[in-house]
Amino acid sequence: MTHRFITLATPGVQQLQPYLPGKPVAELERELGIQHAIKLASNENPLGPSPLALAALRQALSSINYYPDGSGFALSQRIAELNHVDISNVTLGNGSNDILEMLAHAYLTPADSAVFSEHAFAVYPIVVQAVGARANIASTLSATDTTMPLGHDPDALLDSIDNTTRLIFIANPNNPTGTWLTPPQLLGLFERIADDIIIVLDLAYMEYMDKSLQPDIADWLQRFPNLVITRTFSKVYALAGLRIGYALSHPDIANILNRVRQPFNTSSLAQVAALASLDDSEHLHKSVAMNNAGKAMLEAAFDAMQLDYLPTMGNFIALHVKQNGQALYERLLKHGIILRPVANYQMPDYLRITIGTETQNQRLLAALAKELG
Ligand SMILES: Cc1ncc(COP(=O)(O)O)c(C=O)c1O
Repeated sequence: MTHRFITLATPGVQQLQPYLPGKPVAELERELGIQHAIKLASNENPLGPSPLALAALRQALSSINYYPDGSGFALSQRIAELNHVDISNVTLGNGSNDILEMLAHAYLTPADSAVFSEHAFAVYPIVVQAVGARANIASTLSATDTTMPLGHDPDALLDSIDNTTRLIFIANPNNPTGTWLTPPQLLGLFERIADDIIIVLDLAYMEYMDKSLQPDIADWLQRFPNLVITRTFSKVYALAGLRIGYALSHPDIANILNRVRQPFNTSSLAQVAALASLDDSEHLHKSVAMNNAGKAMLEAAFDAMQLDYLPTMGNFIALHVKQNGQALYERLLKHGIILRPVANYQMPDYLRITIGTETQNQRLLAALAKELG
């Protein structure tokens, strides 16, 4: 019997390509019958979660028979305090991915469009297409640009806006390129965007950026009521497995997001772990310092090996391997090393490498030296 379950789906969903996650370590070890594989594929924090988060989790475990606080009051309050905004500006998400989805759901119809760049984070096209809206994709600077190769081009982003545009997504730094716009570049761009277009500034990797590049969030939200900032606990706070992130926005936008969000979209465990993580500034500083040291080590080694890579402000580096990235990725799997091929980002001759611990970085460099000669 033939079914029509594919063609019965809405047109946008039928054309969706599912998000490709990094290969799990356990899967590679099972496939190759090896041990001690390392995954440098999903921009996770190799240091692991804060001990304060783990202690909070242990304490909260016995209460998981209860639903979580749907509004996540305690966590939202602390997030508001730390960002110098009001709790009415905060919306929690099941990862910041959840917020991106809520925004598309709330603000896009099939008659609308959203703008983002080439090589932008893969979830933007997915959430836009899932609601049947159109993506207007802006070109980036060229791969040979001397200031920011493959970086976002503010003029191209503006040129991609038309009278159907309701949302614009900008990741800073962007994943998978690692490239960034400076605060003056972003402010100059925001000033030229009409105030009925919602600007989504995705700051998933903000903590890894040089301080001088980090925005004054409260001030920016005041100046641009159409600005939504998304942040996550998956990266520097090392809670990717728990799924928690948030948006900071005008209270009216938060009000709209609250209407489309699932009633209990963030778990009680995620809430307590995130709250405890925010109190562990030592862990945050250690994570950033480790990333900076790893970045310097990898970049120096790539320079010595005469390998090109994109400038990065994240916890990952896009390495220009100048050959089929998928094939090299597969050869590296045999060394027990999982990187991220990025052909789906129209970067077939790059591999994205998450910066690991010193030992992990050394293993990666040894395998790359063998494979690349
Ligand atoms: C730019 C960017 N935004 C958002 C996310 C989503 O992160 P999460 O849903 O874990 O908060 C990621 C994850 O890789 C990312 O790279």
